[in-house]
Amino acid sequence: EPLIIRNKDEMRNWSRSMRAQGKTIGLVPTMGYLHKGHISLINEAHQHAQLIVVSIYVNPGQFSTSEDLSSYPSDFNGDLQKLMSVNGGVDVVFNPYDLYDYGSKRENECLEKRDKEVSCLEEKGGGHETWIRVENLEKGLCGKSRPLFFRGVATVVSKLFNIVEPDVALFGKKDYQQWRIIRRMVRDLDFAVRVIGSEIVREDNGLAMSSRNVYLSPEERQKALSISRSLSKAKHAAEEGEVNCKKLQDSIVLAIEEAGGKVDYAEIVDQESLEAVEEIKDPVVICVAAWFGKARLIDNIEINDW
Ligand code: PAJ
Repeated sequence: EPLIIRNKDEMRNWSRSMRAQGKTIGLVPTMGYLHKGHISLINEAHQHAQLIVVSIYVNPGQFSTSEDLSSYPSDFNGDLQKLMSVNGGVDVVFNPYDLYDYGSKRENECLEKRDKEVSCLEEKGGGHETWIRVENLEKGLCGKSRPLFFRGVATVVSKLFNIVEPDVALFGKKDYQQWRIIRRMVRDLDFAVRVIGSEIVREDNGLAMSSRNVYLSPEERQKALSISRSLSKAKHAAEEGEVNCKKLQDSIVLAIEEAGGKVDYAEIVDQESLEAVEEIKDPVVICVAAWFGKARLIDNIEINDW
């Protein structure tokens, strides 16, 4: 049975005492409503660390006002059930109530000691105003239609790193841009965390697993297969010698639109810089975001040989 921790200080104390005993800690950050994609990250974490912390926190900092924060699916008890049957287990589920609440009793006590005049003003804690921006990587792909999204992701992930102090952290390549952004942040800011990217987990029919798939009707779910199918077709075409990115992208857009989806973007970009390329000559990744009904789905495929 995992230990459930809801308090930041308690979380940090647990980590520090484990590390003092020489244990290594792996962190898998999630927003809950767990599926096999999340579970595969946990399984992989066991390869890299002795103790596993899974965080479950729907981060308000990465949702815009027009988005689905309140309707984001959640099922904490179901998640716990799934975590209990993971091979090797999960040591801690970190499920904070509010990571942006700086009015904790302990903080107020510190403030009181430091400056009596401030303490009564701090009843609810101050607002949050510090954000991490990975300036170039955050601009393209999903950043175009969601300009504040990666700022929210980078900030909450650095908060989690500071609270949990893990040795390694695992991210899915399903969210390719997110993974690259976190890696760059860790490098640029010298976080003492090793970031590992984990392969995309798909359903048997190819659909990339996502908590947002619950928004799909059975028909939409069928139509959404056009995303993974057109991606693997394009990869195949590239491997057969088609290096013209415009042609490959057009074929993806066409296939998704014919299935009734609305394409947000279909872009072939460099795997490292995420900059658009015209002709494939380095390792690239084809990234797609498309709407099917109420669900905005993302998927991608790497091309390493062509
Ligand atoms: P969430 O969407 O819950 O995803 C948590 C982690 O699971 C991410 O690293 C994501 O890439 C990975 N993941 C999701 N679906 C996957 C799949 N089909 N195959 C492999 N990995 C998959 O991503 C977030 O939460 C948040 O932005 C977070 C990083 C927790 C910050 O709030």
